[in-house]
Amino acid sequence: MATVTELLQPVEQDLETLLSDLRSLIGAGHPILQAAAEHLFSAGGKRLRPGIVLLISRALSANGELTARHRRLAEITEMIHTASLVHDDVVDEASTRRGVATVHSRFNHRVAVLAGDFLFAQASWHLANLDDLEVVKLLSRVIMDLADGEVKQGLFRYDTGQTFATYLEKSYCKTASLIANSAKAAGVLSNESSEHLDSLYHYGRQLGLAFQVVDDILDFTGSDQQLGKPAASDLASGYLTAPALYALEEQPKLAGLIEREFSGDEDLAQALELVRASRAIPRSRELAETFAREAREALAWLPESPSRRALIELPEFVLGRLY
Ligand code: IPE
Ligand code: IPE
Ligand code: MG
Ligand code: MG
Repeated sequence: MATVTELLQPVEQDLETLLSDLRSLIGAGHPILQAAAEHLFSAGGKRLRPGIVLLISRALSANGELTARHRRLAEITEMIHTASLVHDDVVDEASTRRGVATVHSRFNHRVAVLAGDFLFAQASWHLANLDDLEVVKLLSRVIMDLADGEVKQGLFRYDTGQTFATYLEKSYCKTASLIANSAKAAGVLSNESSEHLDSLYHYGRQLGLAFQVVDDILDFTGSDQQLGKPAASDLASGYLTAPALYALEEQPKLAGLIEREFSGDEDLAQALELVRASRAIPRSRELAETFAREAREALAWLPESPSRRALIELPEFVLGRLY
């Protein structure tokens, strides 16, 4: 199984440039906000989202060259993603991210809220400066979806009556919307047909859903160290993800533990055990595999190139995080 760096190899140089460009872009703000944003950018995420935008941009380009606008779109995508993480960690009271202290624990809550806002605002400014109304609409919708997803998730905490559809909608808003809309926006900047734009959107959507389901499985099966953030925290916070929802169908006892919000000493440990002992993890894996296959199939029309090969392999890589 390829590592993410190997997979993103066709745009490796572009991603290096992206990182230094991002640094100078955020350099324009107040020193405290700058330090907060810099803190997370330096910790180094996988840069999967800008990687996807850059791979699509290269795969669609006749001469294999990237335009400045495609590069800027990739930067905006990573800014929006990072902003959402800063806010999410406040909401989730998470102590670590990308293997380092979260912005609110390194600084404080006020700084984290403002640093997230600052990044969203900067992203919007650069987005507007791309001067393409359709791209502005696609990416500003994502910022709405991100907030909507966090709110939806909060409203359904400890709610064992929620449907699987609710979970998928929430996952679309929080994760898939950004990947889908930025993939489509790359196509818009390349003047692709509306049919191709739809399939780029579909690729990003299904890949994003696969990614989120995998992330939700890893929360049950991974360690803090592996994940760079605290493991087994979704259920503890009352967030019912695919594994928990599947387990609820098999293990009637689980509902009681969740509904009393794990108030007994052994409740959480017992609930985790019930999920792990059920068919929930393999079923979640099958769901992620279905999304990954659908993503792969959406790009069949792309002309052959190293970037295309990377895009086609990405869904497999996302699943590979499970093994
Ligand atoms: C984390 O995304 C947020 C989720 C959607 C689960 P990533 O795992 O891509 O985070 P980084 O950017 O690599 O840190
Ligand atoms: C991550 O959400 C942030 C967004 C996708 C907006 P989660 O709370 O589900 O994921 P982690 O575990 O913090 O990365
Ligand atoms: Mg979180
Ligand atoms: Mg969260």
